[in-house]
Amino acid sequence: MSKSLVGTKIQIRGWIWRTRSSGGIVFAVVRDATGVMQVTVKKDNVPDADFEAASKAGIESSVVIEGEVAEDKRAPGGFEIRATSFQLVGSSEAFPITEYQSTELLLDLRHLWIRSREQNAISRIKDSLIRGAREWFHENGYIEVNPPIITGVAPEDSTTLFQLKYFDRIAYLSQTAQFYLESLIYSLEKVYSLTPSFRAEKSRTPRHLAEYWHLEMEAAWVDNEGNMKVQEELVSAMLHNAVAECSPELKFLKRDPAILQKIEPPFERMKYDEAMEYLQKKGLEVSWGSDLGAIEERELTKDKTIPVFVVNYPKELKPFYMKENPEDPRTYKNSDLLAPEGFGEIIGGSERETDNALLLERLQEKGESLDSYKWYLDLRKYGSVPHSGFGLGMERIVTWVCKLEHIRDAIPYPRTVARVYP
Ligand code: 4AD
Ligand code: MG
Repeated sequence: MSKSLVGTKIQIRGWIWRTRSSGGIVFAVVRDATGVMQVTVKKDNVPDADFEAASKAGIESSVVIEGEVAEDKRAPGGFEIRATSFQLVGSSEAFPITEYQSTELLLDLRHLWIRSREQNAISRIKDSLIRGAREWFHENGYIEVNPPIITGVAPEDSTTLFQLKYFDRIAYLSQTAQFYLESLIYSLEKVYSLTPSFRAEKSRTPRHLAEYWHLEMEAAWVDNEGNMKVQEELVSAMLHNAVAECSPELKFLKRDPAILQKIEPPFERMKYDEAMEYLQKKGLEVSWGSDLGAIEERELTKDKTIPVFVVNYPKELKPFYMKENPEDPRTYKNSDLLAPEGFGEIIGGSERETDNALLLERLQEKGESLDSYKWYLDLRKYGSVPHSGFGLGMERIVTWVCKLEHIRDAIPYPRTVARVYP
């Protein structure tokens, strides 16, 4: 609402957010997709039937209101509408969500809770982050592609696969588009995709979903250092787009946009070895070969304000397709990008192994059936090139950017081990 509208007549359509009445006046706050607006309905200013409707309209009733815009310092936003007509479109039964509700109840009523201002703000910020990413990819010559979701390969952890009956065979829901993106670089060189990925994670943690949105890129002629450059530029562009478009929403969620605006390349790079030394100094019981879990990642980043790359992990901690690090063959040429303030891993990426003999060896060690990977190994036979890529968990970045306590709030309908309803 702007000052220039004061004194003009407008129509708004929306849902009753709050309402109270006293002595011939109904004070309603109406919300629509963009925000909330105070409305006063005076008995003398509207037809009798309209006043009756306004008096009866409960929370979440849908309404169409006409009236004059006036300044009012006490109103949210500083303006109100003085109604000249009030039309009740869809009445609402007593709304089951009131002010203080348990997390469980809000999850059971997720189809209604997504109307909340918090969920509205998070969805807008997520949209802005995604659009920032798409714009960055487009400006930098990447092509968006559509890899399959039903697949026969298990690039990541085979213990977290969702199996499905696929006609008379077994197939899996995709954990990552990576192998398909790898195949597409031989045609398009620089590709990306945004798809759902599925992980049958049995652990209940505040950072794991069974279904999440995965933003992945793959590029020919790019080494691990180049891969990190793409990540830091992409993440910065996403953040800056969200700041430009969604500062009010960020502030509503108690995230200071200025902190995100300051995030720019280059991000800090820390070798896995250095990370271990740092954690040992902090008194954590870790040694070379220990994985970085939520606790370790939090310790590494809780005092940081910009993301940190941890590079060159021991091979036994990472999947088979990564490129061996010639400087220390116990490790890979890979990186995890950790969000600051203790939020932990948001991206996993690496240069890819191009040596088929090494890939075969590692697949056999894993006990994988080589039939499913024949096509993947073909990619190294016909004009192999150095290449790299990464995957960014959209809900992970949203959790950080929106300062959420739990990743389930970064998606309208979270899928976890405990829940497929609603
Ligand atoms: O580290 P991950 O497992 O790496 C891959 O899948 C690679 N194949 C990606 C690639 O190189 N194309 O997953 C990538 C990212 C993680 O950094 C994290 O942000 C997110 O996906 N992620 C999850 N997000 C929510 N819930 C889960 N269960 C997730 N598992 C991974
Ligand atoms: Mg990872």
